[in-house]
Amino acid sequence: MAGMLEGKTALITGAGRGIGRATALLFAAEGARVAVADQMAEGAAETVALINKAGGQALAITADVTKPGDVASMVSAAVSAFGRLDCAFNNAGIAGYQVGGAGKKTADWPEDAFDRMIAVNLKGVWLCMRAELEQMQKQGGGAIVNTASIAGLFGIPTSSAYVASKHGVVGLTRTAALEYAENGIRVNAVCPGFIETDMTKDTMARRGAQIMAGIPVKRMGMPQHIAEMVCWLCSDRAAYVTGSTHTVDGAYTAA
Ligand SMILES: NC(=O)c1ccc[n+]([C@@H]2O[C@H](COP(=O)([O-])OP(=O)(O)OC[C@H]3O[C@@H](n4cnc5c(N)ncnc54)[C@H](O)[C@@H]3O)[C@@H](O)[C@H]2O)c1
Repeated sequence: MAGMLEGKTALITGAGRGIGRATALLFAAEGARVAVADQMAEGAAETVALINKAGGQALAITADVTKPGDVASMVSAAVSAFGRLDCAFNNAGIAGYQVGGAGKKTADWPEDAFDRMIAVNLKGVWLCMRAELEQMQKQGGGAIVNTASIAGLFGIPTSSAYVASKHGVVGLTRTAALEYAENGIRVNAVCPGFIETDMTKDTMARRGAQIMAGIPVKRMGMPQHIAEMVCWLCSDRAAYVTGSTHTVDGAYTAA
């Protein structure tokens, strides 16, 4: 049986580890040729090596999503290698502790930490979408998935910049879906709950018991759980799905 993404080409940011890497591996296993982008060259190269070892086709690209020049070169490198861009997963992101915001209430966030958070998690997604939408309009269609979060759906004390960035991603997603529906471009967001990656190690170490108590299925999600949703959203099976947010959170937001 043909893979869900047979014959498609894809670009994934933040694919050097975590959710991005798991998605790149699944996309390749489902038949896509994958451009694996990350600011960490080593991580991107490792993901590509894993894909190649499994018999897939991939290309490593080093790019910082906050730099417009990097983003433009990233998209053109993917298109030069594969001829077109059918799917894009804008997933690169950072958490509060990575910019010095952990444990800080809204008025206590350092300004540079707030700026960095928005630059990576929100403007980075917009910069990627800008370049991808240009290419997808030229070729007559495509599918974009942005990584928001359950933090894009409600407030979380001491995470104001992260929460604001992810609400922003939800807004960008909905707006672009409306604007580009006529161009055959679908735009959706995935909202992961608590997923076992390097990003959540610090948070789980600080308040893991409290978080776990709030997850109805009583376990964290795995990166592969998010990858499955993104793969389906990018596939033709989701042809009528656009402009929506998709939680994958073990019922965390169900109550
Ligand atoms: N892990 C979770 O529980 C969880 C929950 C909700 C949302 N998310 C979101 O999922 C996405 C992936 O998270 P993860 O858990 O895999 O994290 P991770 O830290 O394991 O991986 C993030 C990747 O993004 C890359 N990256 C960071 N800044 C970048 C930049 N400026 N340019 C290019 N690459 C950059 C990193 O190098 C890393 O490889 C993020 O957007 C995150 O906010 C994660």
